[in-house]
Amino acid sequence: MRKLASAAMVAVMSVCLITGVKAGEVEVLHWWTSGGEARSAAELKRLLEAKGHTWKDFAVAGGGGESAMTVLKSRVVSGKPPTAAQIKGPSIQEWGDEGVLATLDEVAKQGGWDELLPAVVANVMKYKGSYVAVPVNVHRVNWMWVNPDIFKKAGAKIPTTWDEFIVAAEKIKAAGYIPVAHGGQAWQDSTTFESVVLGIGGADFYRKAFVDLEPSALNSPTMIQAFDVLRKIKHYTDKDAPGRDWNLATAMVINGKAAMQFMGDWAKGEFTAAGKKPGVDYECVAAPGTAGSFTFNIDSFVMFDVGAGSSQEAQMALAATIMEPEFQEVFNLNKGSIPARLNMPRDKFDSCAHTSMDEFVASAKTATLVPSMAHGMSTFSSVQGAIYDVVTKFYNDDKMPAEKAAETLAAAVKDAR
Ligand code: GAL
Repeated sequence: MRKLASAAMVAVMSVCLITGVKAGEVEVLHWWTSGGEARSAAELKRLLEAKGHTWKDFAVAGGGGESAMTVLKSRVVSGKPPTAAQIKGPSIQEWGDEGVLATLDEVAKQGGWDELLPAVVANVMKYKGSYVAVPVNVHRVNWMWVNPDIFKKAGAKIPTTWDEFIVAAEKIKAAGYIPVAHGGQAWQDSTTFESVVLGIGGADFYRKAFVDLEPSALNSPTMIQAFDVLRKIKHYTDKDAPGRDWNLATAMVINGKAAMQFMGDWAKGEFTAAGKKPGVDYECVAAPGTAGSFTFNIDSFVMFDVGAGSSQEAQMALAATIMEPEFQEVFNLNKGSIPARLNMPRDKFDSCAHTSMDEFVASAKTATLVPSMAHGMSTFSSVQGAIYDVVTKFYNDDKMPAEKAAETLAAAVKDAR
C-alpha cells in the first residue's frame, strides 16, 4: 500500500516538474451523482489529476442542481466557497455581481476560446466581457426517450404531435405498460412542461413566455392549452412517480416498464452506462411538436477567487483541461451531451449526438434555438423558482383549472422579476 502511495507521489511530482506547475487542490462542487453523470465527472477528475493536481469531490445529490445551489450559497456566505462550482446560465451573472469569481481571461486567451466557442455559448460564460466560466457541454432538453419494444407490443406509433401522444399512450396503457416514466419533482415537472410549451406554442411563443416573460404569453390560450396537456401527461404516469429521481424514471424505460420519458439528454448517459444502443435498444426523438427546435442547457464551471497560489494554478489547469478536445470528447460521450467546443470529430458519437449536433447548428439559423427555462438558462433563478412553483402546484392539484394556472403564472413571474 505504502509502495503504491509513494509511486503515485513520484508520478505526480514528475508531472509537476515537467509542466513547471505547483500541484494544487481544487474542491469541485457538482450534482453529478447518477450512473452516467458520475462516469462523466470521473473523466474530468482523471484528466485534472494527470496534470498533477488533486480533485476534492464536493458532490451534492439532486438532479437539476437545486440542492447543490442551496449548499453552495451557504458555503459562500460562510466565507468558504469551493474552488470550483458547477454554475450555469444567467446565474453566472448573479455570482459575478457578488464579486466573488476569478477571471479566466488568461487561460481563455491562451486556449483561443473566442474562436473555439459558438457565440451563443461564449456569451453565457462571460461577465462584463471577461470569461468567468468554462463550458463542458451542450445538452438538448426537448427529447423524448422511447422504448421501441413496448411501442411494438402495444401496436403504437411514436408520436410527433401531442394529439398523437394521447393515441399512443392509450394503446400502451391498454397493453399493460406505463406510458410515461416521470419523477414528481419540481424541476422534472418543469422539464416536461417546457417541452410541451415549445411543442404547442413554437419557439417564438416559448421565447416570449420564458425569455421575455411577456404577461400576454404567460397568461394566454396557448399557455392554458399547454397546462391542459401537462395534466394529460400526468394521467399516463404511475402512482409511484411522486418524488422519484429522474434516473430511476430513465431506468423504467431502459428496463421495459415504461414507454417514454421526457428528459434532457443526460438520460442518454444512463442508457450508455447500461450498455444500451440508440436505434437498437432505445430511440431518441424530439418531444412531440418540437422537431427542428432545440432547448439548450449548457453545463459550466466557475472558479471562485482564491488569490494567487497553488489552488489558483489548479483552478486554471481545470479550466484549461475542460476546453481541451480530449476532455470535450470523452466527457460528452458519457454524459449524453455534445461538446461545447466547435469542430470536434464526430465519429465516436452516436446517432442521437449527431442529431443534436445538426439541430444545434440548424436551429441557430432558423431562430428555433431557445434557452431551457427548467435548467436555468432563460431567466434569473428567482423567476425560474416562481415558474417552478406554479407548474408543480398545478401538476399536483388536479382541481386547479388550467386557466387559473396561466393567470397565476403571469402574476408570479411579475412579482419575481
Ligand atoms: C441538469 C444538468 C445536467 C444533468 C441534469 C440532471 O440541470 O445541466 O448536467 O445533470 O441536471 O442532474
